[in-house]
Amino acid sequence: MSKKVLITGGAGYIGAHTVDALVRSGYTPIIVDDFRNSNPSVIQGLSKLIGFEPVFFKIDICDKKALKEVFTKHEINAVIHFAAFKAVGESVLEPLKYYQNNLIGLLNILECMEVFGVNEFVFSSSCTVYGEPDSIKEVNEKTPKQLPSSPYGYTKWMAEQIIADYAKAHSSFKVICLRYFNPIGAHPGGLIGELPIGKPNNLLPFITQTAIGKHSKLLVFGNDYPTIDGTCIRDYIHVMDLADAHIKAVEAFGNNSIGSCEYINVGTGKGTSVLQMIQAFEEVSGTKLPWEFAPRRPGDVIEIYANVDLAKSMLNWEVQFSYKDAIKDAWNWELSNQKKNR
Ligand code: UD1
Repeated sequence: MSKKVLITGGAGYIGAHTVDALVRSGYTPIIVDDFRNSNPSVIQGLSKLIGFEPVFFKIDICDKKALKEVFTKHEINAVIHFAAFKAVGESVLEPLKYYQNNLIGLLNILECMEVFGVNEFVFSSSCTVYGEPDSIKEVNEKTPKQLPSSPYGYTKWMAEQIIADYAKAHSSFKVICLRYFNPIGAHPGGLIGELPIGKPNNLLPFITQTAIGKHSKLLVFGNDYPTIDGTCIRDYIHVMDLADAHIKAVEAFGNNSIGSCEYINVGTGKGTSVLQMIQAFEEVSGTKLPWEFAPRRPGDVIEIYANVDLAKSMLNWEVQFSYKDAIKDAWNWELSNQKKNR
């Protein structure tokens, strides 16, 4: 019988791509999402992509009773926990919303896993736990964590601590915290992709929406950073590669060399500046992007990218796509959405 994997936030951006990857690898996904930060149309796109309607529960993971019912109805073998808010700026304005959703949700999941004896857990963590790296911008998992600059960052930081404490107290439990760098792109088939609600905060969705005419111009936050061209540097990873890392993590639970609580960077190992992203977008799309410099965005890290040696050795995972492939797929997704909405 195929392994049942519960995916919280399975209608979200990374969640939906992971559902597709799970199905392609022979797993049975059980999706939980309340559409607070996602769109029901994603489930339709997913169904087309995977060829059947996945098991789906429209529930809020902060509703413990409803979550327990899912565990009662399905014998879950592993959990991948995505459901969380992720807008840095919003978290500063509405901290309680972030602590409530991101932490209560996690506590409920862990409690259900304890009650129902589910011991395999993949957690969506973030490179935000590294803060601003000192002199070495390529961070590995031994790079000391720093206190975050936003409530969003704190929720990821605290979640890693809660999970580590839980793992210490439960000898059969295994967890892999995947520390994502900057996920971008969309499914190459154009059926699923990122659907930001309202004005996007992240760079690439803002670029594609500007190019299509939804915004008059892109503001590039800061031009005087100590980097190659004065703009911030990030490690942009294709969402398909990121989804694949989750499959490799679920597979790794069967491997004795995996410890009870692992932290693994998921990035490409390369840094790209904001101006390089704009240039690549113009090249790939053949479209001129209106943009101008604006003041620095408070809380932005200057430069960070991943050392991915551990992902290679522990998960046998490597990226298949470049950031230009991801830009191409994100643009294709934006165009296909435009057609649908006509
Ligand atoms: C942030 C978080 C990251 C989180 C991610 C989720 C921090 C330090 N980073 O990533 O942990 O996982 O959000 O959404 O907490 N930019 C512009 N103009 C724009 C938008 C962005 O110039 O309109 C620039 C930013 O200044 C930054 C780069 O593009 O230099 C990437 O920004 P963004 O896509 O928002 O991601 P992060 O801030 O890296």
